[in-house]
Amino acid sequence: MHRRTVLKGALATGLVTTLPRLATADPLTLTAAPGEAPLVVPDGPATKAWLYNGTAPGPVIRARQGDTLNVTVQNDLPEPTTVHWHGLRVPVSQDGMPFLSQPPIAPGDSFDYTLPLHDAGTFWYHPHVNSSEQVGRGLHGLLIVEEPPEIAARLQADREITWALDDWRLDNDAQIAPFGNRHDQSHGGRTGNVLTVNGTYLTRTLVRSGERLRLRICNVSNAQHFHLKFAPFDPWLISLDGHPVAPRKLGDSGVWLGAGQRADLILDIDMAPGTPARVIDDAYGPDRAFEVMTWEVSDEPPLREAPLGPPEALPPNPVAQPDLANAETHTLTFDGGAMGSMAEAMMEGKMLSIQELAQAGRFWSINGTVPAHLHDTEPLLRLALGKSHRITLENRTRWPHPIHLHGHSFQLTDPRAGNIATLRDTALLMPDETVEIALVADNPGKWMLHCHILEHQASGMMGVVEVA
Ligand code: C2O
Ligand code: CU
Repeated sequence: MHRRTVLKGALATGLVTTLPRLATADPLTLTAAPGEAPLVVPDGPATKAWLYNGTAPGPVIRARQGDTLNVTVQNDLPEPTTVHWHGLRVPVSQDGMPFLSQPPIAPGDSFDYTLPLHDAGTFWYHPHVNSSEQVGRGLHGLLIVEEPPEIAARLQADREITWALDDWRLDNDAQIAPFGNRHDQSHGGRTGNVLTVNGTYLTRTLVRSGERLRLRICNVSNAQHFHLKFAPFDPWLISLDGHPVAPRKLGDSGVWLGAGQRADLILDIDMAPGTPARVIDDAYGPDRAFEVMTWEVSDEPPLREAPLGPPEALPPNPVAQPDLANAETHTLTFDGGAMGSMAEAMMEGKMLSIQELAQAGRFWSINGTVPAHLHDTEPLLRLALGKSHRITLENRTRWPHPIHLHGHSFQLTDPRAGNIATLRDTALLMPDETVEIALVADNPGKWMLHCHILEHQASGMMGVVEVA
């Protein structure tokens, strides 16, 4: 079952940790600094990692929809950093894009972010400088924007659980393997060998018969995509990338989570104590399925006798609806990677052959171009402010790509199995797949669009979309 068992010695089967949390009432400071994380064995060799406030993942930040969140980010890393608030529709100056929206925070310096919280939902935060390494060393955390309590109460959840799903590449001493691997960049990204839930390997979650859980799941891994199955439970899917969907049973289809994506589920523990149940990931096929974590149903008497009815739908977030009939249309084509057909691409105004690109550490292009630096690159697209736009995303590679746009949430106009309808901030494009997204360009600025496989981003699969 466990394809990720390269580590020698006894493996932990720890309970899923409840992460430290920061509420808006606290003074919010996130300090990024080197430290140690007990990823694999609670009292075994600790992994040298980079941490927010001493933990990986960092604290769960919780705030209320409609509030303004103020966070001071202190950089105690040996290199510059920023923090990007993934999925929050904030002004460009607060978005954490290096050079595009702010100078990187130098070691020893800090930056104050002011974040208006328009949308309720499950979001997350992570650095946007040297992302493959900084995120891969442990810098990431969940950011929960709560609905007003009377709305959340409609879900009738007894308890809320957050899971940061991560995938680490560790050596036999549980230390993080080196970064900058060209094979990762040109293939499927930095996939790992140890899967953690909230920073712990092979976890159990203690639950009680009859209880209803609200589960907020975020894929914080560098490159891994997950296809989660919950049988014998059949949870309700209630939200994707922070945006509510009409509650629907997952059934046999499970839920896909590309890097950066989130899903909220309502899960009724309709099982007797002692019944085994696990969450399985079979993104790479049923014969390569492995365990994400195990449920442990306690001996306590059931919390309720009769099962609860379906959860009520949450109200939509205030995202403008694009006018599909009158939208401007655009296309972005993604090329490159191993086994691809990209022969050349433009970089800094010069056409480079695939060999020259590889020498420059670039393996991917968007619309035939590769940015040298973000801040002086020509925008891939210019979207007229306040107008509706339909953008065709064409994956001409042999690899899946979770494509993320900053500053906006978009609709998938042709939802498929992997990307159920509704609003998203990250669209998982399967190999050779084309999808269309639509949005109202209502947040002015120069925004990043990139693959959330962070090694793809670093090696060319990124660009700028200007809204003006
Ligand atoms: Cu979650 Cu540009 O990133
Ligand atoms: Cu990619």
